[in-house]
Amino acid sequence: MNCIRKSFDSFYDLFRPFLFFISKNDPHRAHELFVEFSRIIHGLKLERFLLDNETNYNKRKITLSNAAGFNKNGSISPLFLKYLGFDRVVIGTVTGERWKGNSRPHILRLIESESLINWMGLPGIGASHVRRNLMKFQNSEIPITINIAPTPHKRGEDALRDLEKTVDALKIFSCVDRFELNISCPNTEADRNNYHKELKSLINAVQISMNDYQKLYIKLSPDLLEHEIDETVSVIQAMHVDGIVTTNTTTQHSYQKGGASGELLYERSFAIQKHFYERLKNTHVKIVACGGINSLTRLNERINYGAQEIQIFTPLIFNGPRLLRELRDDI
Ligand SMILES: Cc1cc2nc3c(=O)[nH]c(=O)nc-3n(C[C@H](O)[C@H](O)[C@H](O)COP(=O)(O)O)c2cc1C
Repeated sequence: MNCIRKSFDSFYDLFRPFLFFISKNDPHRAHELFVEFSRIIHGLKLERFLLDNETNYNKRKITLSNAAGFNKNGSISPLFLKYLGFDRVVIGTVTGERWKGNSRPHILRLIESESLINWMGLPGIGASHVRRNLMKFQNSEIPITINIAPTPHKRGEDALRDLEKTVDALKIFSCVDRFELNISCPNTEADRNNYHKELKSLINAVQISMNDYQKLYIKLSPDLLEHEIDETVSVIQAMHVDGIVTTNTTTQHSYQKGGASGELLYERSFAIQKHFYERLKNTHVKIVACGGINSLTRLNERINYGAQEIQIFTPLIFNGPRLLRELRDDI
């Protein structure tokens, strides 16, 4: 089995320059092709044969999952992602209503610095359509996190009702054991300051809607200021939030717009993780590390500062599925 997986990984390495070339004016196209590929493999029930490898599920020191944005609408089979090498699948950001987001191209691929800049603006098909996608993949054998945010044009009470609508639509699945509240998207008009003022009500809206066994994590920005970190910590503790994800993309880069991920994000997201770890290390709050984690060294750095889970997106595009196999082989 292992040699089939290694050949699959090498195939991606060979195919990547061509994939980057045909999608150079619109990198989103590469992701669409990947989603199509996953559909074909799942349709032919080939994932176990093609993607599994001997070490996949033997040693589990840490949970690996895809980061939000990778499977926005839940259209990739969770089984496919499991055999690719993930222990958990993240779907979203899901919003209550369908949202178009910004027009394409809305992603810039920076090959030399192995980074992406995106200003997608939370496009998505809306909670009820995501629910339909998930219905198709019942019994997925892998826990699922739903990353959620209010539909970007909603404010105040409307935003809260919108969040509740999403939770109501998706909490019915037994594999959905976690919601991840995205309060850190840099690409929508709902600005961060507003979210911080409204954080308690947003958290409350999710908590009262979800089932008892479901957990709530919040996904944080790497660009938080010292006082914002303190405020967030006190809200997390007061509201009994179960965990945090450090971090979303950063607006601190030299391009005109959007949020940076991958290499350009690594140091900033690690720094924020350390700040939260110092403040939360003696509490029940779990830490999920996210941002530029492309090697075992980086994974260990993040574990040393409290991470119990790792989320990956951009490094997977540049390193291919080999990254997941190699991380699993070594941890
Ligand atoms: C193209 C793209 C789309 C993204 N969409 C979302 C999203 O919808 N919701 C969200 O919370 N984060 C989103 N993110 C942020 C990622 O989940 C992650 O936090 C960030 O990319 C850092 O991880 P990475 O360096 O492994 O990519 C997106 C990132 C990229 C590159």
